[in-house]
Amino acid sequence: MTIGFFDSGIGGLTVLEESLRRLPAQDYLYMADTLHVPYGTKEQDEVRSYILDAMERMMGEGIEALVVACNTATSIAVSELRELYSLPIVGMEPAVKPAVEMNRATGKRVLVFATPLTLRQEKYYALVSRVDEGGIVDSLPLPELVRYCEELQFDRRVLGEYFREKLAGYDLNDYGIIVLGCTHYPFYTSILRDILPPHIQIVNGNAGTVRRLAALLSRYGVAVGRGSGNVRFMCTGDEPEYIDKMRSALEFLRRDEV
Ligand code: SIN
Repeated sequence: MTIGFFDSGIGGLTVLEESLRRLPAQDYLYMADTLHVPYGTKEQDEVRSYILDAMERMMGEGIEALVVACNTATSIAVSELRELYSLPIVGMEPAVKPAVEMNRATGKRVLVFATPLTLRQEKYYALVSRVDEGGIVDSLPLPELVRYCEELQFDRRVLGEYFREKLAGYDLNDYGIIVLGCTHYPFYTSILRDILPPHIQIVNGNAGTVRRLAALLSRYGVAVGRGSGNVRFMCTGDEPEYIDKMRSALEFLRRDEV
């Protein structure tokens, strides 16, 4: 079967990489909305219409399941997509619940990094209110980080300065876990590892999403795949150079270089 992965840009590749490891016997179609990336600094209605347009195009490609591999797109449109299309659809959820559970014994706080649009959504408030009984979760919008990632800005000095500036108001001794609540952010895991105190764990929701995908496929009776891990790339702007960029970024992730 072919599983569709959708993101505004290259961030969803961090989820696809996890899926290729866990579900290698499927085929994949990865679509990036290059005409409109980044989503997280735009308004909700605008982003919603971009997602619906891109999705129509993706559905014409014969996918049999869909992963909305973008936290911002998930918070805005996943419920609507489930109403519109009858195929199995999995979205992203920032790993706030496991982070709160992991931190319970330490008494430390949890800091969630995400796009401004994700953090403004009702879905995010509902998640935090549901799982954060002790009021230990703080949120930090990182509006520039998706753009850096799309520009392949991985200079450790530039990013180190960026993160230090963003974290300047926080006493990191108070925190035990940082949650990466945008699928672009895991590209910066090793840079963050270098600048954060060693006691802070960095988590993301990718493994949880792929676990939910595997469970959903098996419920639909397609747990045993018929594919071979083949990945086809598309983007809304049809730029051949962006397809090359996605292919190289996926290789980079598969070599475990983040
Ligand atoms: C973006 O395009 O700004 C964000 C993608 C995400 O939230 O995963």
